[in-house]
Amino acid sequence: MLLMPNILVTGGAGYIGSHTVYQLQRQGFTVSVIDDLSKGHSASVPADALHVCSLFDHPQLVALMRSGRIDAVIHFAAFISVGESGKEPEKYFHNNTAGSMSLFAAMAEAGVRKLVFSSTAAVYGNPTQVPIPETAAIQAVNPYGESKVMVEKVLDWLDTARGVRSVRLRYFNACGANNDAGLGERHDPETHLIPLILRAVRTGRPVTLFGDDYPTPDGTCIRDYIHVDDLASAHIAAVNYLLGGGATAAFNAGTGRGYSVREVINAVERVTGKEVPHTIGPRREGDPAQLVADSSKLRQTLDWQPRHSTLEEIVESAWVFENRNFA
Ligand SMILES: NC(=O)c1ccc[n+]([C@@H]2O[C@H](COP(=O)([O-])OP(=O)(O)OC[C@H]3O[C@@H](n4cnc5c(N)ncnc54)[C@H](O)[C@@H]3O)[C@@H](O)[C@H]2O)c1
Repeated sequence: MLLMPNILVTGGAGYIGSHTVYQLQRQGFTVSVIDDLSKGHSASVPADALHVCSLFDHPQLVALMRSGRIDAVIHFAAFISVGESGKEPEKYFHNNTAGSMSLFAAMAEAGVRKLVFSSTAAVYGNPTQVPIPETAAIQAVNPYGESKVMVEKVLDWLDTARGVRSVRLRYFNACGANNDAGLGERHDPETHLIPLILRAVRTGRPVTLFGDDYPTPDGTCIRDYIHVDDLASAHIAAVNYLLGGGATAAFNAGTGRGYSVREVINAVERVTGKEVPHTIGPRREGDPAQLVADSSKLRQTLDWQPRHSTLEEIVESAWVFENRNFA
């Protein structure tokens, strides 16, 4: 019988992690999850896979990696709010950067040398070229992005020093839900555009949009929205790549197609049949006009395609999730 690889997922009770765990298990991988539940939800992960454990619990991490004979780690656990990171940088460098160091030390002790890391388009700061290739300058403009840049740099040294092979997936805007699995976005506080717009439709309370005077065709910011299931499948492709002997690399995880905030509002109005109550506020500091991935490297090297990332499918799935879980 073919033995399927053993994967440790950190932050697996969170939004993107739980969708990835679901797909990994359906494909037959043996999955162990660690999550401290500071933000995640235990109900999002099968109980027998979940270990309530922090990135900083070195002995438990080592024990889990050894007893689970872990072949590769997928590392999602982090704090994710750009705005909060500007107000409380220490919290972000501690959890995201130092937390990752604690994980890497445990991997070294347990002899695990393959890692998929949740990086972000925020490592590019305000890019001068759109779509953004992976070769664009790395120049984060907030502590959240910098906390990820630092981890990416450490991973280069771990490759040189210890032969740790890593894939950094630089995500663009994750969104959508998998309603068959009962999974979707449940951040608290929610800061992401699509759930905020859908909440405004459901409750009638207006959502504030940040700026409509950007140098874009309709004046609102353009982002690359990727369905969370497509993001999850990119992780599985990345794990298979590493287990097949792939070298350390960074890949943009986006669709390559950008939509403006206005286009998202129009899509939500089409899908829900209701107007989106909204007001226009000032620009948010550090928000680039456009963030769109050049994702050709991910498509070519990992043979990956987005399958669920039309704006319609994203909004429809998130709308079903919103009504089932928050109404
Ligand atoms: N959501 C996006 O659009 C997006 C975009 C770019 C990058 N990312 C990255 O993707 C990853 C996952 O994002 P998400 O949206 O699923 O976030 P999330 O908050 O839903 O999930 C993160 C999970 O990590 C756990 N966690 C946090 N700190 C921990 C610690 N010290 N020890 C153990 N568990 C801990 C939380 O409890 C939570 O379940 C993050 O690393 C984030 O930076 C997300």
